[in-house]
Amino acid sequence: MNILHVSASPRGQASESNALSHKIIESLRRRHPDAEVTERPIAGNVLAPVDEPYATSQQSLVDVSSDGSMAQSERLVRELELADVVVIATPMHNYTVPATLKLWLDHIARVRRTFDISAQGKIGLLHDRPVFVAIASGGRFSGERAHQPDFLTPYLKTILGMIGLHDVTFFTIEGTASRQETLAQTRLQTDQALHDYFAT
Ligand SMILES: Cc1cc2nc3c(=O)[nH]c(=O)nc-3n(C[C@H](O)[C@H](O)[C@H](O)COP(=O)(O)O)c2cc1C
Repeated sequence: MNILHVSASPRGQASESNALSHKIIESLRRRHPDAEVTERPIAGNVLAPVDEPYATSQQSLVDVSSDGSMAQSERLVRELELADVVVIATPMHNYTVPATLKLWLDHIARVRRTFDISAQGKIGLLHDRPVFVAIASGGRFSGERAHQPDFLTPYLKTILGMIGLHDVTFFTIEGTASRQETLAQTRLQTDQALHDYFAT
């Protein structure tokens, strides 16, 4: 079993989403002790932006080029295809995914490669597999105590569904900017949710 771990936080060891994603991976490994993890850190400037060859290929009827960021896009798509399970660690940035995760999505959601366009709309070309998303946010975005909109979870569900990945599960650490005691309580609640999920 191959787990693809995509991590988008620039905060390294201090990142709550990274810590949560490692707990998800540990839970998966308890079920599949021989699971291998492919690390795909995407924070900072590690991914090249979508460039002219890539943009032109999206306008053509065939992928005309493997130049520029097309080569990187192809590598990232193959890495995703090889994964049995995907674990994404992401902060909420301005109510949605950070720019680096958006860029990774732009690379893996490519017409005629991971989705097609039909008269009925877009059709995903990847076979479905579980995707776990570990989200950290400074404030709350779900439940009654949420004071901000959430464009992150609906967006990720939509874009992953567009390429064929429909089995998406979210775990969150909301309120990382809260007092330490409140944050500790939130971590415990998320640990319990993880435990309950993987116990079933
Ligand atoms: C550019 C930027 C934008 C942010 N926007 C939001 C936001 O819209 N909502 C929120 O709750 N927290 C926001 N935060 C706070 C982060 O979500 C929070 O620090 C989170 O813990 C970061 O994830 P990490 O711990 O995995 O690094 C933002 C942080 C940054 C740097």
